[in-house]
This record gives sequence, C-alpha cells and structure tokens, in this order.
Amino acid sequence: MSDKLYEQAVRVAERAYAPYSSFNVGAVARARDGRVFEGVNVENAAYPLGICAERTAISRAVTDGCRPGDLEEIAITASPCGGCRQWIHEFRFDRVTFKNAEGELVRAEELMSAMDEIYSLLVTIDYPDGVTGGLRRTTDALRAVLERTRGDLTTAMVAARLQGAIERAERSVG
Ligand code: THU
Repeated sequence: MSDKLYEQAVRVAERAYAPYSSFNVGAVARARDGRVFEGVNVENAAYPLGICAERTAISRAVTDGCRPGDLEEIAITASPCGGCRQWIHEFRFDRVTFKNAEGELVRAEELMSAMDEIYSLLVTIDYPDGVTGGLRRTTDALRAVLERTRGDLTTAMVAARLQGAIERAERSVG
C-alpha cells in the first residue's frame, strides 16, 4: 500500500501553493477505515504562517472526525520537518513513508532491516528438520532472497541519487 500512497502524494504535490520556495510537497494519510486525506503545503508571504503538506492532510482527517490511532499510514514527498514529526507522533501512525535528503525511500530500508531481523531469528532455531518441517531449507532459501533484495535496493538507491543529481544539474543550468 505504501508505494501506491506515495505515488498518490507525488500527484497531490502538483496542487501545492508554494510560490516562495517553489518546493511543492504532497502528503496523503490513510485511515484504518480506508478513507484517504490529501494535503499540500500552503505558503504565505509572511513565512512562518505557511503550513506543511502533512499538517494539512492530518488537519483534514481531524476535521472529518479522525483522532490519534485512527490513521494507519502517511506518505510524504519530502523529509518531514521537526514540527511535522511531532504531529505524526501525536497521531500514532503505523507507517510513515517519505524520501530522505538523498532521495532514498526510507520505507524500503526499514523493510530490509525487518527482513534481516527475521532471518537472524530463524537461523538460530536449531531443531531437527523433521520437527520444523524443513525450516533449515526455507531459511537458506530466504538468505538468497535477502541477498538479492539487498542488491536490488542498493541499485535502486544509486539510481535515485543519480536521478536527483541530474535534476539538480538541469535546474541550475535553467
Ligand atoms: N514542507 C512540507 O510541506 N513538508 C515537509 O515535510 C517539509 C517542508 C514545505 C514547507 C514549505 O512550504 C516548503 O516545504 C519549503 O520548506
């Protein structure tokens, strides 16, 4: 779900009102009951009065009756500022997806380390194969999947960094 929500946030970002920073941000929060709330950053000539995309999305959810614990996940097209992290914490999201400064998908890294953890736990289980129904073989197969996934993730991150560098270079050339 996270990837789809993130893709939606990218589309939502086009509707941002950010004439001062030109940094369009989109955020989409999904409630446990399936409702989705979109938000964009809305800037103001008086700088501190602007509002971030995630706070807009959360405010819309609250306006429609959501309270802390009702929101399951949020996807944001920027790395949340300190104030927004506080808001995200307050509403106790299960999942938060965003790109960090290097443009890396933080969620993918989290999942990778969860997979590592599961593997390290499984590999310590040392009962005869007859008892565990061939767990040893499954764990070995999982190891191969892990290594391949780590390789794919590294490639994807290098590609994302490269793409970011190209985009920045294009902007600076005009
Ligand atoms: N911004 C967001 O909307 N969300 C974030 O997570 C980071 C920053 C907005 C605030 C401001 O309008 C612009 O991005 C530049 O900082």
